[in-house]
Amino acid sequence: MPRPHQIEIPEIETERLVLRGFTDADLPDFTDLRADPEVIRFMPGGEVLAPFAREIALGRIKRYRKEWSRGFGVWAIEERRTGAMIGYAGLEPGDGAGPSRGVELMYVLARSAWGTGYGREAAGACLDFAFDRLGLDRVAALTAEENLASRRVLQVIGMRCLGRVEYNGFQVLGFEMAPADRVAAGAK
Ligand SMILES: CC(C)(COP(=O)(O)OP(=O)(O)OC[C@H]1O[C@@H](n2cnc3c(N)ncnc32)[C@H](O)[C@@H]1OP(=O)(O)O)[C@@H](O)C(=O)NCCC(=O)NCCS
Repeated sequence: MPRPHQIEIPEIETERLVLRGFTDADLPDFTDLRADPEVIRFMPGGEVLAPFAREIALGRIKRYRKEWSRGFGVWAIEERRTGAMIGYAGLEPGDGAGPSRGVELMYVLARSAWGTGYGREAAGACLDFAFDRLGLDRVAALTAEENLASRRVLQVIGMRCLGRVEYNGFQVLGFEMAPADRVAAGAK
C-alpha cells in the first residue's frame, strides 16, 4: 500500500479551475467551507456538523489524499485567477447494489463561488476523467430533491434523472450517466 505522500494525484486544468490533490495548507479554507451552514445544508448530518468543521476538514484532507490509491478520488478545486481553494469535487465509490452503485460524482463549492458556472465546470471535468481516463461505463449521482442548484448542475452536465430513490433511509433524487449519454448531451 503506497503511503499517502507517494500517491500520484492527477491534476486537471479547466478553463478557470485547477483540480488538484489536497495539501495541508488547504485546512483553513476547507474548515471555513465546512463551517458554512448553507454549504453543508444538504449533506449527511447537515448544519449540525458546522461546529466540527475543523476536525471534519482535517480528516477529509487525509482521507481524500489516501483514497487516490484506487485510481480515482476527490480533488481540491482551485480558482486559476486567484489561486484560492474554493471547493472540492470528484468521484467516490458508490454503494454496491444501490442507486449510487459504481462510482458517484460529488461537488461542493464555497458560497463565494456559487453562481459562477464553476459547479458545472468542475463536475464536467470529473465526468471527462471518469469516462475518458478511467473508461467507466456508468457514473451515478444523488442529490436532495430540495437542492435545486445541485439538480441543475446535474441536468446541465447531461446526467439522466432516475427519479426518487431510497438511499440510507432517505428519499433522494438519483442520476446516472453512461458514455453514450455523454455523447447525446453534446458534452463530448
Ligand atoms: C451545487 C453547487 C456546486 C452549484 O454550484 P454553482 O457554481 O452555483 O453552479 P453553476 O454556477 O455551475 O450553475 C449550474 C446551473 O445551476 C443553476 N443554479 C445555480 N444555483 C441555483 C439555485 N440555487 N437554484 C436553481 N438553479 C441554480 C445555474 O443557473 C446554472 O444553470 P444554467 O446553466 O441554466 O444557468 C453549489 O451550490 C454548492 O456547492 N452547494 C453546496 C454543496 C452541495 O449541495 N453539493 C451537491 C451535493 S454533493
